[in-house]
Amino acid sequence: MAIILADNEFITVQKLIFAEVGIDLQSSKKLLVQSRLLKRLLFYKFDNYLDYIRLVQVNAKERIEMINLITTNETYFFREIDHYEYLQKEILPKHPFKAKFRFWSAAASVGAEAYSIAMLLDKSMARSDWKIVGTDINTDVIKKARIGLYPAKWADKIPLELKREYCLKGRGRHEGQFLMDRGLVENMEFSVGNLMKYNGEVGKFDVIWLRNVLIYFDDDTKQLVVDNVLKNLKVGGYFFISLTENLNMINTASLESVATSVYKKIK
Ligand SMILES: C[S@@+](CC[C@H](N)C(=O)[O-])C[C@H]1O[C@@H](n2cnc3c(N)ncnc32)[C@H](O)[C@@H]1O
Repeated sequence: MAIILADNEFITVQKLIFAEVGIDLQSSKKLLVQSRLLKRLLFYKFDNYLDYIRLVQVNAKERIEMINLITTNETYFFREIDHYEYLQKEILPKHPFKAKFRFWSAAASVGAEAYSIAMLLDKSMARSDWKIVGTDINTDVIKKARIGLYPAKWADKIPLELKREYCLKGRGRHEGQFLMDRGLVENMEFSVGNLMKYNGEVGKFDVIWLRNVLIYFDDDTKQLVVDNVLKNLKVGGYFFISLTENLNMINTASLESVATSVYKKIK
């Protein structure tokens, strides 16, 4: 017999997720949540969602498992190519040659965005003085990002020249996968971070990408998250959101719009 997530149980999950991660789970997501959490019920041999919810309420480790299952981590290499072009044409050439270039992928998922930038920096800046930090609330994706091993199909989006230089074709048990060049990894760091709070430990950046995550937040949470993230952006630095997102309903007095979904911090 199918195990059903009752409406009131779903509301409890909605509240928990909202409080922890800020994600505004719409009612239309009930069946999705039911199916994603079923794994954990089966793991604990629970025959109802209430027992699982009670566990999650008192067990911080299990809350992490729940968050890992609920977050949507879709990503790919060179997603929204316009932004890569803007970075290459308008930002990198103006960056003082001797100054370290620091980039933050603030909702990094499995790292496709961070490694795309790493390849560009290594190639076009032709220098080693750069650093990329990737953070995400989901502990599973951060583990994957640190490894940098992807299905071969994902390389289709990577420009040929970069693919040849930085993507190592898997053999044997890694057939059908590719591994990001180890030289890049030296300048990269992936860690778990929640956008609902200020992530002071990651430091200040020249460029921050916060793409395809604001879409999950309501306006108040967007404001909180953007305010938190902007504390990590240097004055004169650039802030990118997704081409499909906007900052219309929030206060962005410290930002000047310079291109579609690209902002410069002016104070
Ligand atoms: C759809 S992915 C976007 C990945 C990448 N930025 C891109 O554009 O391809 C959104 C990511 O945001 C993360 N996320 C959601 N809420 C978060 C929060 N409160 N703090 C940090 N990361 C969060 C999710 O775990 C997920 O990996």
